[in-house]
Amino acid sequence: MDLSSAKVGFIGAGNMAQALGKGMISAGLLQANQIWANAPDDGTLDVWKAWGCNVLINDNTSVFETCDIVVLAVKPNLFPVIVRELKECKGPDNQLVLSVMSGITIADIEKGLYSKVSNLKAIIRVMPNTPALVSAGCAVYSLNEHASCKHADVTMKIFESVGICHQVPESQLNAFTGLSGSGPAYVYMAIEALSDGAVKMGIPRPLATQFAAQMVYGSAKMVLDTKRHPGSLRDDVCSPGGTTIAGVHALEKAGFRCALMDAVEAATLRAQEQSAHK
Ligand SMILES: NC(=O)c1ccc[n+]([C@@H]2O[C@H](COP(=O)([O-])OP(=O)(O)OC[C@H]3O[C@@H](n4cnc5c(N)ncnc54)[C@H](OP(=O)(O)O)[C@@H]3O)[C@@H](O)[C@H]2O)c1
Repeated sequence: MDLSSAKVGFIGAGNMAQALGKGMISAGLLQANQIWANAPDDGTLDVWKAWGCNVLINDNTSVFETCDIVVLAVKPNLFPVIVRELKECKGPDNQLVLSVMSGITIADIEKGLYSKVSNLKAIIRVMPNTPALVSAGCAVYSLNEHASCKHADVTMKIFESVGICHQVPESQLNAFTGLSGSGPAYVYMAIEALSDGAVKMGIPRPLATQFAAQMVYGSAKMVLDTKRHPGSLRDDVCSPGGTTIAGVHALEKAGFRCALMDAVEAATLRAQEQSAHK
């Protein structure tokens, strides 16, 4: 499958689909006119029109009939509705379905789509995140038994155009949902709270938020670039009797690390529940 001539269709045109669509166009991976976006009404489609993509309203069947790669990017609870509304159809040869829906397993997708899209075989389940919008996303993916190395290569190309991407066993996808899929929300909360603390200590809000965000960005870059253990990097900035160890002590008292571990666990368990109650 050659991305330079492939047609890529999005079932669902919201946050995640837009992050991927914009990322692929910005990275020069494909032209806007190679992309189809479909949603129930104009609401989320205006931005796609402005990018020069093809838009469809309430016509998921045409997306399957037209596109070499179909990205399922609706909320997980809508997947059964999509399947129910889909007319029996035939897609292009060697078609690939990429699902970014949290908690919907490869087996669910096969069960739902195989009876509707006659020649569909290859399915890849991906867990991306919205920082893909600024080319700093992370995505993990798992293949079904029919997805080939070429399908995997195309998936890597798409998601590496907007960040980092790794193949993992499907059994780990819910945990990655709890870590990197949901994680941006935890970090936004941390940035907001750090900014609040700085405002309380007399720093104006715009500067407080900018510095909190840049500090999180710089610290993450230190971990990634140096590949050192985060605990060792933390030790470096905690001088004996200094300011930072006083701040670290306050965080430990408040159960900071435990709260983050709980957040990853809670989101993972929720993804598992979604898998069980689709
Ligand atoms: N956002 C994240 O951080 C993130 C991260 C990882 C994975 N995901 C996964 O990505 C998926 C989409 O999430 P999102 O945040 O992008 O949601 P979203 O912004 O609400 O977008 C959902 C899209 O689906 C459309 N839609 C609703 N019913 C439809 C139908 N019957 N046929 C076609 N399209 C339909 C919506 O259109 P209307 O707005 O017009 O209803 C909207 O364009 C979810 O399964 C989520 O688990 C999201």
